[in-house]
Amino acid sequence: MKSHNTRTVNGKNAAKSLPEPSEEAKQHSQKLADNIRRFLSRHKNLPFSKFMEMALYTPQLGYYAGGLPKIGKAGDFITAPEVSPIFSRCLARQAAQVLSELDEPNIIEFGAGQGTMAKDILLELEKIQQSIHRYYIVEISADLRDRQKNTFEKHLPTELIDKIVWLDALPNSPISGVILANEVLDAMPFERIRIEPDSAKQGFVSFDETTQTFNWDYQIITDNTLQKFANQLIKNIGEVSELGYETEINLNIQPWLQSLSDILSAGAVFLVDYGYSRYEYYQPARVMGTLRCHYQHRAHNNPFFYPGLQDITAHVDFTAVAEGAFDSGFKVAGFTTQAHFLMGSGLLEMSVDPDADITQQIQTAQQIKTLTLPDEMGETFKAIALTKNFDQPLIGFSVRDLRHQL
Ligand SMILES: C[S@@+](CC[C@H](N)C(=O)[O-])C[C@H]1O[C@@H](n2cnc3c(N)ncnc32)[C@H](O)[C@@H]1O
Repeated sequence: MKSHNTRTVNGKNAAKSLPEPSEEAKQHSQKLADNIRRFLSRHKNLPFSKFMEMALYTPQLGYYAGGLPKIGKAGDFITAPEVSPIFSRCLARQAAQVLSELDEPNIIEFGAGQGTMAKDILLELEKIQQSIHRYYIVEISADLRDRQKNTFEKHLPTELIDKIVWLDALPNSPISGVILANEVLDAMPFERIRIEPDSAKQGFVSFDETTQTFNWDYQIITDNTLQKFANQLIKNIGEVSELGYETEINLNIQPWLQSLSDILSAGAVFLVDYGYSRYEYYQPARVMGTLRCHYQHRAHNNPFFYPGLQDITAHVDFTAVAEGAFDSGFKVAGFTTQAHFLMGSGLLEMSVDPDADITQQIQTAQQIKTLTLPDEMGETFKAIALTKNFDQPLIGFSVRDLRHQL
């Protein structure tokens, strides 16, 4: 989870209050920065999305591709599956409702992190006797693939490990099943937009030879899609002060959903992430957008701090997800908060374990609070369901369905 237990350090001097990386980590970052600079010298412009893609995913050097611990206490942030197995067990119950209706029940998980969610889902499906054909994982980070393998070898019996298949690309022929992604959309490269009183600009990245730092370089928008987005945004937010209005747009959502629709013959997609409906996302008061960087459990807004050593994210516009899904041939079957999704998927039942001692009970209660309280992960995190050739009402959205907000 990218906000809980995270101190926020923003403003001009944010980088000064962040922990100093080790010399080894700085050298690692320098190699990646040199790569990005070489790219910049060969191309006229470096859009922010390209900088982010290189900072996070350059093989061996990018944040997700490198060998540093990322998720958990020793890393930079913590995610719901790492908070408690209850999160994944609830997701498994929701998945099982769909899988039980399919001739060939498969799961495809995108961005499986350390493999914790896959491990707990497989164990829960076995417990409730929901059979599964394959558990596919699409993971672009070689380092995380290794961490996933370690998790499975440590915690799963061979017959469950044998169900897991890593995919470098999506299958060629359509399959039926459930597609899952927790905190993946927020890690996709996005564009940064800046609205000024008399112009709309796109965020590019430049390199200052004197200070040896990357910097924002805002230029008048020339791209049609971004111009359309900016025009609509200006209508919504009204007059902007001299300080400007900065925000993000993720142009990867629609093509990604199209690729999912192309391979899913029947079943459902469940996406969980932090974000808002478009109305709430692009509020006039949200003048700094939602770009956040995570370094050793501190959140700040400088994406140029030691490239490769920190995560860079933005909240998800769930209206864009719904539109992209609709355009790709999905039905939007549910949208709700993480708290309500978990409640609908069996949270109460899982919170009671007659065999647990008092320490375990307190631990479970604490984990449930973290997953569900509004000022923890309960409200900012949302779940959205997209279905194809599957029309039953979904249990995860039975307590509260917020599709009208999209
Ligand atoms: C914030 S981590 C979340 C990890 C995990 N789902 C969890 O909840 O702990 C983001 C994950 O998404 C992966 N990722 C980002 N973009 C991806 C894409 N287009 N396809 C597959 N994985 C992707 C990253 O490599 C990383 O594993």
